[in-house]
Amino acid sequence: MDNAELARRRDTLMRHIGENGVAVIAAAPERVRNRDVLHPYRQDSDFRYLTGFPEADAVAVLVPGRDQGEYILFCRERDPQRETWQGRTIGQDAAVSDYGADDAFPIADIDDILPGLLEGREQLYCPMGADPAFDQRLIAWVNALRARARAGVKAPLEYVSLEHVVHEMRLVKSRAEVACLREAARISAAAHRRLLEVIRPGLREYEIEAELLYDFRRHNGEPAYPVIAGSGANACVLHYTANDAELPADGLILIDAGIERAGYAADITRTLPVSGRFSDEQRVIYQLVLDAQTAALEQVRPGQHWNAAHEAATRVLVAGLVELGLLDGEVDALIEAGDYRRYFMHRTGHWLGMDVHDVGDYKVDGHWRELEPGMVLTVEPGLYIPPGSPVDPRWQGIGVRIEDNCLVTRDGHDNLTEAAPKTIADIEGAMAG
Ligand code: GLY
Ligand code: MN
Ligand code: MN
Repeated sequence: MDNAELARRRDTLMRHIGENGVAVIAAAPERVRNRDVLHPYRQDSDFRYLTGFPEADAVAVLVPGRDQGEYILFCRERDPQRETWQGRTIGQDAAVSDYGADDAFPIADIDDILPGLLEGREQLYCPMGADPAFDQRLIAWVNALRARARAGVKAPLEYVSLEHVVHEMRLVKSRAEVACLREAARISAAAHRRLLEVIRPGLREYEIEAELLYDFRRHNGEPAYPVIAGSGANACVLHYTANDAELPADGLILIDAGIERAGYAADITRTLPVSGRFSDEQRVIYQLVLDAQTAALEQVRPGQHWNAAHEAATRVLVAGLVELGLLDGEVDALIEAGDYRRYFMHRTGHWLGMDVHDVGDYKVDGHWRELEPGMVLTVEPGLYIPPGSPVDPRWQGIGVRIEDNCLVTRDGHDNLTEAAPKTIADIEGAMAG
């Protein structure tokens, strides 16, 4: 993200905070995978949103109206010894020249300097409860000021949730963010489309996963969440990640995968027949889920409320299940009682952005939120009929989800992932080709 946009974000946040407040936010810590091996580093999304700074061991402080500079960054000091092993560190000079900080200090000096930045401010905006170790340090910095109360030093009186403000900002995407999401969607949709030429009986689920990882890495990204490649009845396990079964010739495979690239995620699900042709039962369930998705997508437009897509999808699914004899009863009553949740147990979507399940409230003042241009969400109804369900065995083991990523526009929505085929004709045509 370019520095001008990052600076605009900090300014927006600082206007909200006002000159009685101060904000402190830390980079994500590094995490041990095993012994001396670390997990690949993933920056905290809020920290990245406000700073663009990629390293761990960093703390950003925003002090609205401070004459000597409003944006102070604490970060690692450059150290030739360390850089020999781990590569270049950004350091304080580049934190200012390349990352737009007004001033930067070594992270090792934070205990000495940070309390002074909080002094005289009433509200301390900070993430709360996300990282207990950092919460403790914040309290220690505030206590360092309180200890000097008799010398007339004023410590912040209130802790305020920084996340809530930043998350409302992140919910509505800028033009540059939309470009990133569009690119993540484009790459991910192409990866799903390529699977139509790859999938065949006898492969293992991890071989399908490998194809996706190849496409994500060669576009300088990584999976936004663990790839789900569930074949046969594994498609009914919502967060299946074992990915080690052989693809059954007569089964479906549900593939839920998206890239995270340049800080933004895609989240696409397609469900395909391993043989290239849907069986009669698979075809009926698949078409029902697709019809539910079409109905849900029709509700994605500005001014419509968040839950309308879910309500539309649910109505189509429940009516279809009744017609097929998979549910017994009257549609409204079944929806009211929630009985359909045995086969459709998740919601029809979520916000999408830097995090796959992105931030932002779904209700405002107790009411479902209205969609606005610039919001991005998934639309992903599904039906899952695991073995042992109380239905004719011919339906058992079928699991279908179809998931697209939508940008709300001024007059409706833009489906960012429609390049991944999803009609029965398109899927069977491509798999036969
Ligand atoms: N991939 C997680 C989800 O679809 O929500
Ligand atoms: Mn998904
Ligand atoms: Mn999703």
